[in-house]
Amino acid sequence: MKQITLPKASQLTSPNPVTVVCTQKPDGSTNLATVSWWTYLSYNPGMIAYAMAKPSYSGEMVRENQKVILTVPGAEMVDAVLGCGSTTGRNTDKVSRFHIELAEIEGSPIKIPAHSRVAIVCKLKEHHEVGDHYLYICDVEQVYGDESEEAMFAWDGYSKIRPAKEKE
Ligand SMILES: Cc1cc2nc3c(=O)[nH]c(=O)nc-3n(C[C@H](O)[C@H](O)[C@H](O)COP(=O)(O)O)c2cc1C
Repeated sequence: MKQITLPKASQLTSPNPVTVVCTQKPDGSTNLATVSWWTYLSYNPGMIAYAMAKPSYSGEMVRENQKVILTVPGAEMVDAVLGCGSTTGRNTDKVSRFHIELAEIEGSPIKIPAHSRVAIVCKLKEHHEVGDHYLYICDVEQVYGDESEEAMFAWDGYSKIRPAKEKE
């Protein structure tokens, strides 16, 4: 083996998971941001965590509202996922810019992309500074799934969004 950088290692672990983090903006609308760095933490109680770069608008919103929905996008979201991962909700309404159809989640003011395979409704428990990111540790309140939607993954580092197929 040869010595490599951590960003290079994250390319070598591709395909990496892809989620769309949904938060509420001050005007009540929903902001969407693409996040690969997430993990399950605990089944009982249900807990998950994800990491976002310090300047991210989604981070600011979840620190303010303590509410977030983590979704796994379906195939229809391929282009939108790259768009949501390269613009900021600070100055862009990503939902209209990337023509994303939204769906309601009962009891939540935050909407989710209609084409989602999984939606995990969370309350922020705590956040920690971890180098150039914040780590958001969340309690899971509700989980929804739709097996008819195909999960997407990030390939070639984070540059291509595609499904992952099992080797025959
Ligand atoms: C495939 C992909 C995966 C990404 N994963 C992460 C991630 O895990 N953490 C992060 O902070 N940003 C990640 N990003 C970048 C953010 O989505 C990007 O900074 C976005 O502009 C943040 O939006 P916001 O400012 O509205 O929160 C990813 C982008 C792409 C395209």
